[in-house]
Amino acid sequence: MKLAITGKGGVGKTTLTALLAQVYADAGRDVLAVDADPSPCLAGALGFPGELRARLHPIAEMDDLIYERTGAKKGQVGGFFTINPRVDDLPERFSVTHRGVRLLESGSVELGGSGCICPEAAILKTLFTHLLFRQDEVLLLDMYAGVEHLGRATVDFVDAMIVVVEPTRRSLGTAAQIKKLANDIGLTKLYLVGNKVRNDDEAAFLEAETPSLPVLGFLPADLKVQEADRLGIPVYDHVPSLKAAALKIADSLKADA
Ligand SMILES: Nc1ncnc2c1ncn2[C@@H]1O[C@H](COP(=O)(O)OP(=O)(O)OP(=O)(O)O)[C@@H](O)[C@H]1O
Ligand SMILES: [Mg+2]
Repeated sequence: MKLAITGKGGVGKTTLTALLAQVYADAGRDVLAVDADPSPCLAGALGFPGELRARLHPIAEMDDLIYERTGAKKGQVGGFFTINPRVDDLPERFSVTHRGVRLLESGSVELGGSGCICPEAAILKTLFTHLLFRQDEVLLLDMYAGVEHLGRATVDFVDAMIVVVEPTRRSLGTAAQIKKLANDIGLTKLYLVGNKVRNDDEAAFLEAETPSLPVLGFLPADLKVQEADRLGIPVYDHVPSLKAAALKIADSLKADA
């Protein structure tokens, strides 16, 4: 199963990605979590210790590696370079593992539409395609907020996309845009997850206003989420209400698979 987690800025993509990663790892699955945010914070959300976090760096920003593998400098548009560079060694070489979750920071590339190809996009696209062959692994991609970067190179390889929303029209508007862009590139399996939901009315609002995306479940608003962040403890360990909700979401996904 390969899932991308998307949504408007600050809705809880990283929180949900970390929760699901730990749910699957604790269920004995091989989990690869990929942080595609240029300012990565999934390692923190997963409670990776400092010495492991220090070994992480986004692949899209590794100028020397990009040059070594593609023959071109990062950011070059046009000219000749290898569009299918060697990447099979990258997941093991640049990831770190903690409590059963293997984590890789990919970084993100600017993709104007589906046609853009630059050396760092070539690396990421080839890398993600390579990850497709790791059949038994659960792959969770924590995406950069918004919609602009939603090009083929970054999402062509996922089976499904979870769009996280808050009980606000704005985040639902972003969800509708994401749905359209995803459909444009042929990805039709999308789900909605409501986060920071305070009561039944807010859950009902999301059910009523979903841009025709099936609702997988809701994560409650809980002040302990911020407390977990302050204390540097994963939400999975610190906030039972969110862990329980994440387990239910994983069940809903399984039921739909
Ligand atoms: N269920 C919740 N209850 C209370 N606070 C929450 C909840 N989920 C997330 N938050 C808080 O909302 C903020 C944003 O969460 P998170 O970083 O997961 O969102 P994001 O979508 O990944 O953000 P970004 O777009 O910056 O990557 C954090 O401060 C987090 O602690
Ligand atoms: Mg995030």
